[in-house]
Amino acid sequence: MKLESEKKLEEFKEYMRKLEYLNSAIGVIYWDMRVGIPKKATAQRGEVIGYLSGEAYRLQTSDEMKEYIDYFSTIEGLDDVTKSMVLNAKKDYDQTKKIPEHRYKEYVILKSNSEVAWEEAKEKSDFNIFKPYLEKVVDFSREFIEYWGYENNKYDTLLDFYEPGITVEKLDVVFGELRDAIVELLGKIKESGVCIKDDFFKKDFSKESQEEFSLYVLNKMGYDFDAGRLDESVHPFTINFGNKDVRITTKYIPNEFRSALFSCIHEGGHALYEQDIPDELQGTGLAAGASMGIHESQSRFYENIIGRSKAFWTYFYPEAKNRFPQFKDVDFDEFYKGMNAVEPSLIRTEADELTYSLHVIIRYEIEKALINGEIEVKDLPQIWNKKYKEYLGVEPQNDAEGVLQDMHWSDGSFGYFPSYALGNLYGAQFLHKMEQDIPNMYDDIKQGNLDGVHQWLKDNIHKYGAVYKPAELLKMVTKEELSAKYFIDYLNKKYYEIYNLK
Ligand code: CO
Repeated sequence: MKLESEKKLEEFKEYMRKLEYLNSAIGVIYWDMRVGIPKKATAQRGEVIGYLSGEAYRLQTSDEMKEYIDYFSTIEGLDDVTKSMVLNAKKDYDQTKKIPEHRYKEYVILKSNSEVAWEEAKEKSDFNIFKPYLEKVVDFSREFIEYWGYENNKYDTLLDFYEPGITVEKLDVVFGELRDAIVELLGKIKESGVCIKDDFFKKDFSKESQEEFSLYVLNKMGYDFDAGRLDESVHPFTINFGNKDVRITTKYIPNEFRSALFSCIHEGGHALYEQDIPDELQGTGLAAGASMGIHESQSRFYENIIGRSKAFWTYFYPEAKNRFPQFKDVDFDEFYKGMNAVEPSLIRTEADELTYSLHVIIRYEIEKALINGEIEVKDLPQIWNKKYKEYLGVEPQNDAEGVLQDMHWSDGSFGYFPSYALGNLYGAQFLHKMEQDIPNMYDDIKQGNLDGVHQWLKDNIHKYGAVYKPAELLKMVTKEELSAKYFIDYLNKKYYEIYNLK
């Protein structure tokens, strides 16, 4: 009997590997389309992606797949990896199979039209162009939730795709605490009247010099260039095809020193995670991050907790000064504070470390109400602007800098946004444990030695890939549940010092 199941497991793994090969091929084409494709080739290449995606869909939803899932669901005593592999495959299978095929096809077509409408609406700053499409996308989401099923809150079903196990009940608590704490801290910063200068970052920095410095920092982080590469694209991203090819991109802005650098550090954090996932997990469907939130915790950990810290710049500031005459008259204190200036703004992707989570929480509150039918699409611009005024004290003057700024809703990615702020919470919880485990952590960082940090993340998080759910992983590492406390403490400590608050 044991032999039979072992043989079957080998077959199942081989089947899963085929799926991963297809996804790798799709990924390489996707990367090429965003990094180097000749303009005229886009449509043809789109057809290739369409064909391969159809094949991947077929493998994912086949009768053969169902047989494997059914077979292994009845077997007792599976190891953690096999158990997760089966659960993962089942989740993907159910997600598509529970929806009537004709509705799914209609939805796919709607999504691509909706994305086009969103682009036009954003360009013309007119929500009404996007509104009828978004209404349909929301209707589909609500309909699909009925097929997928839900327990307490309809929005939970969507959250679960990105952050397995997370619920509105939990998020309401941690996001509520975080929102109130940030709004309070922001109020104190405004009251303090302290104004931090950061104009020296907005001088002219050549693309070449920015690229060299980014490469230098990525090397120091431990990013393996023999298993990756850095390129340019319109929006920075990380993509991987297994653990031996993890690519990142960035965008160089000539008069903004921080933009490309921090996006490289951010994507580098994502990339280290993928490069560290062990060979044994390749081809199982588990060679990925534990969740979107855990993935974001790694990128934000490097970008903010490490990359905007005093310890980090103790080492890198003299190097930056050597390379960039623009910083000739900027002392360390100005440099460090300029890196951490707080400025409530309208655009999420340009937000500073403190206010960023508020942008996310606004989207969470809106999505939750929208999916549950408490508000409707037509009300979005008004609700959006009201929340920005209330939490951040700024008000969009038009839809483009308000409700239309992100593309996530155009393709129905409801439930994705919370990952960004969850990443901040997880990151601070991991930091708390890391500080206990590595007492000389900050001394090492001051010497430019980031290996201890990397090794800790590898041993405690990266090596497990997607074997454990985020809450299980968090518990394993920190012995605690999700909490907003550590991130709030971290923010207070950091900004009290920077803004001389009492
Ligand atoms: Co990210």
